[in-house]
Amino acid sequence: MTRFTDILRFLIFVIVISACNGENINDDNSDDGKDDSMDIADPPDPPTSNVSLCTRRKNTQMHEIRAASAKQFPFIVAILNARNDYICAGSIVSNGIILTSAQCAESAKYVLINATKDKKNESTESVHVIRTEHFPTYKGPTSKMDVAVLYTDKLNNTLASKINLSNHTFSRNLNEIEAIGFGLNADVGQVKELQYVGLDARIADEELIFGFIDCIDTKVNTCFKDKGGPLIVNNELVGIITNGQDECTSEIMSTYSINKLMVTAMPIYTFKSWLDEKIAKHPQLGVETLQSYPIKPAVRMQKVHLTKRNSGAIYKAVPLYYMLMLFLNLC
Ligand SMILES: *[C@@H]1O[C@H](CO)[C@@H](O)[C@H](O)[C@H]1NC(C)=O
Ligand SMILES: *[C@@H]1O[C@H](CO)[C@@H](O)[C@H](O)[C@H]1NC(C)=O
Ligand SMILES: *[C@@H]1O[C@H](CO)[C@@H](O)[C@H](O)[C@H]1NC(C)=O
Ligand SMILES: *[C@@H]1O[C@H](CO)[C@@H](O)[C@H](O)[C@H]1NC(C)=O
Ligand SMILES: *[C@@H]1O[C@H](CO)[C@@H](O)[C@H](O)[C@H]1NC(C)=O
Ligand SMILES: *[C@@H]1O[C@H](CO)[C@@H](O)[C@H](O)[C@H]1NC(C)=O
Repeated sequence: MTRFTDILRFLIFVIVISACNGENINDDNSDDGKDDSMDIADPPDPPTSNVSLCTRRKNTQMHEIRAASAKQFPFIVAILNARNDYICAGSIVSNGIILTSAQCAESAKYVLINATKDKKNESTESVHVIRTEHFPTYKGPTSKMDVAVLYTDKLNNTLASKINLSNHTFSRNLNEIEAIGFGLNADVGQVKELQYVGLDARIADEELIFGFIDCIDTKVNTCFKDKGGPLIVNNELVGIITNGQDECTSEIMSTYSINKLMVTAMPIYTFKSWLDEKIAKHPQLGVETLQSYPIKPAVRMQKVHLTKRNSGAIYKAVPLYYMLMLFLNLC
């Protein structure tokens, strides 16, 4: 009987393995095919400017522009200048270090933490920018390495989280990305709200990521009037947005492809070693390390309080439990 089930199990195992392999091989082939054709297509000018039928991928995570809720992205900051005007979005990558684009860093005066709008109010925290440092080869708006860090006063875990930097080495492996910023489709003079959009990542020359949107159903005005914010995949930062898209499209349909370029971004691996060095060098003495997103500030605060309150009870309960186990074992 056991023999029989063993054999049966082995057979099922073999079948599952071969089925999985077969599927994987197919998937890889089709994915590679798609990615290659995208590389050749040179994304900045979509393959044909002609309208074609959507050949969307299965399980696409692409989605229309959505408003972010408070604390949804606790590592995002709004960067403001001396006149309290919004400039750009940025990401907290370490306590006291904010990553943004170099163009955004120039007039940065302070940043707003815990903000879902571009204006400060009672629930936001303003943090002073002490100094800025751009990537060594950045020479101006036309430079490719449009990346900078802002050094700010230190934060604490009740206010913000940081985002982990992805160890991705090829943007080729990216499929769907989330792009975050303030006022993506807001008109001039309107309040800029924190928003995010699901895009399809396409690569050119392994040095830039292009985020496209198409083949979804939306009547949300679609454009990306922001920069400096992050591209994220699996809760990790994979790129920094260096250019957006000012022209809005009022309607997108899932039947016809429009291949709308939304963002241009620098992939993390083009500047990660530089950034790692900045983070490592920055003194963190006496400062708490921020929790990594998706851990949220408030959740952790509650936890701390809970353990403090219950600690007495836990200490008393644990030895009792072990003694009971010991006793049972002896029997
Ligand atoms: C798309 O291409 C077809 C022929 O290839 C042409 O007749 C049509 O006008 C084009 N449409 C647009 C919007 O360019
Ligand atoms: C402050 O602004 C945030 C959006 O950034 C909003 O959610 C919150 O309700 C505002 N708080 C007050 C007290 O106005
Ligand atoms: C963050 O903002 C939310 C509302 O936008 C507010 O309820 C909360 O108290 C704020 N947190 C802090 C630490 O100010
Ligand atoms: C965290 O920072 C806020 C704002 O600076 C401050 O009000 C709060 O007391 C700090 N919390 C801790 C635990 O240091
Ligand atoms: C990336 O790799 C480094 C070194 O191997 C590791 O310390 C770090 O935790 C990794 N980061 C992520 C987000 O996996
Ligand atoms: C972020 O990095 C820390 C430390 O390397 C790790 O413990 C945590 O799981 C990472 N979180 C995510 C979402 O990758």
